[in-house]
This record gives sequence, structure tokens and C-alpha cells, in this order.
Amino acid sequence: MNITICFDKLDPAPWVQGVQAALPQARVSAWAPGAPSADLAIVWAPPQQFVDEQTGLQALFNIGAGVDALLQLRLPPALKVVRLDDAGMSVQMAEYVCHAVIRHFREFDGYDADTQAGKWSYRRPRSRADFAVGVMGLGVLGERVAKALQVFDFPVNGYSRSARQIDGVRCFAGPGQLNDFLKATRILVNLMPLTPETENILNRQTLSRLQRGGYLINVARGRHLVEQDLIALIDEDHLAGAMLDVFRTEPLPAEHPFWRHPKITVTPHTSARTLRDESIAQIVGKILALQRGEPIRGVVDPQRGY
Ligand code: NAP
Ligand code: GLV
Repeated sequence: MNITICFDKLDPAPWVQGVQAALPQARVSAWAPGAPSADLAIVWAPPQQFVDEQTGLQALFNIGAGVDALLQLRLPPALKVVRLDDAGMSVQMAEYVCHAVIRHFREFDGYDADTQAGKWSYRRPRSRADFAVGVMGLGVLGERVAKALQVFDFPVNGYSRSARQIDGVRCFAGPGQLNDFLKATRILVNLMPLTPETENILNRQTLSRLQRGGYLINVARGRHLVEQDLIALIDEDHLAGAMLDVFRTEPLPAEHPFWRHPKITVTPHTSARTLRDESIAQIVGKILALQRGEPIRGVVDPQRGY
């Protein structure tokens, strides 16, 4: 079995070594243009040239949860695309979102500003009943985030494509229930995949349905959000602010207004990182399962787009 590894802006060498150590019977190498076709590939945002040349592939393993970059390529219809299924990302996402929610709810940015100014001051405690958190996307990451938020007694709403049931979470599904979900939500967490249906879904119309003083946490993809609509709603005081991990252009350009907006916190697409050892173990486990003819999790449906 030949395995090729092709990454955009990431050194494949430690992955080649790790996959080779876990699968000594395979031949693992980093892709270079013109290389003969392998049987399997491990990729992140490969170029179209890679797909065009690697005509013998049976499966592509994506080293992230989101497959939007991959699905923009012209892929052979029979090629199996497999995404990462948690692999240590859900706990990181739960940490990030709980941090963002608590930081906003407890006004820690305000306390920081006060202490920087040498000021010992109290803010009036707020009621968490007034800070319902709505998680858009109740998949592997969204469900873990929803459950983590419940530990802090926030009311939690959830929104997905198909109907879901999660204990203690008020679940909404499909475009027909989107308005009710938004109206019931003050802090909105986006954890949907980027698909033609979800692109630009965070816009003036949807964000203005959030309860007054709403707050956005976008940890999915930058192209979900119409950036100028967010800035306008914050500047009009309909929204209180946002914590953003993903952007339409990454790295975020130096002149982008998000960097300097006092009510927007920016992080560099780091809310849930791919962990190499966990990811290699998961991908190798799936390769062996496929060889045994067993079903695996995380196979992407190209029609759905995730
Ligand atoms: P997942 O398991 O596939 O879950 C996706 C969820 O979104 C599902 O609940 C799905 O509904 C829902 N959904 C899809 N399309 C929808 C639509 N049109 N309307 C409403 N709900 C919709 O994905 P995941 O592993 O949780 O990852 C989610 C996303 O997080 C990834 O696609 C990626 O973009 C992003 N991500 C970001 C980072 C980061 O560092 N910032 C790291 C990892 C992942 P159903 O339940 O009905 O299928
Ligand atoms: C990161 O953004 C991922 O999709 O895993």
C-alpha cells in the first residue's frame, strides 16, 4: 500500500515519519509534482494538480474537520473523502467557547481595563438566565460545546440541519426554525460546516434577530460571516461584541478593522488545532478498518457538503 501526504503550508515530514511508524508494511512519502499515484492520501488543502495526477487514489484523509477547501476541487466522484472526527478537537473547542462565553458574561475585559488603570471596582452580577447560548451546528464539536456550557448552568439552545435531541438543550432544526432559534439566543456560537447553504448565514438579517446585547463567537469558517454586517450591528449597539477565530482572509490582513475594534477579540484560527499523534492514530485506525472491509466514521457526503 502506497500512501502520499500533501499539505498546504505545513511540513509533511513528521507525518510521513509517524504514519510510516504506525504502518510499517506501507510505503509513505510526501507528495511532489509528477510522483506516481498512491493508493491513499493524507491531505490538507491540496492543489488541483495533486488530485489530477493522483488518479489511483481510493481515499483521501483530510487532517481537519472541515472539508470546504477540499470540496472546492474537482474530485473524482468515486473518491472517498474522510474527515477528522474529533481526534482531540472537541475538548479544545469546548475550552475556547466556554472561555469566550464566560469572559463576556463575567465582563473580564472590563475588569482587565480597570485593573490596568489601577482601579479596584465591582460590576453588578448578571443573571445567566439572561444569557442563553445558541450553538449552531450540533455535530461532533457542537454537541461537546453544548454539553460543556451546561456545566456552567447557561441556558443552551442548539440548531442543526436535521432534528436532534440532546438532554437539557432546546433543539431547533432547519431553516423553518432558524428565526425562533435566534430569537431565543443571546450568545451565538457558530460550529456549522461551510457549505453553499451556510455561506454568509451570519448576516445583518440573522444577527439582528439575536436578543439585544447579543454576542457572536465564530469558530467555524470566515465565509459564514458577512463581516461588515457584524461591525455595523456592533456599532449600532444591537450587538455587544464578538470573539472571532476564523476570517474570510487568513491570516487576517493588517489593515482589517477587526484588529482594532474595541468590542471584537481576534484569535488566529486556533480554537481547535489538529493534534498530530491523535490524528495519525485515527487515520491509521480507519485505513486498517477499510482494509478489513469495516465501516468507518467521518466519510463526507459530497452532496451535503460535509
Ligand atoms: P459535523 O460533525 O459534521 O457537524 C456539523 C453540524 O452542523 C451538524 O449538526 C449539522 O447538522 C450542522 N449543519 C450542517 N449544515 C447545516 C445547515 N445548513 N443548517 C443547520 N445546521 C447545519 O462537524 P464538526 O466536526 O462538528 O465541525 C464543524 C465545523 O467546525 C467544521 O466543518 C469546521 O469548519 C469547523 N472547525 C473549526 C476549527 C477551528 O479551529 N476554528 C477546528 C475544527 C473544525 P446535522 O446534525 O443535521 O447533520
Ligand atoms: C480546522 O479548521 C478544521 O477544520 O479542522
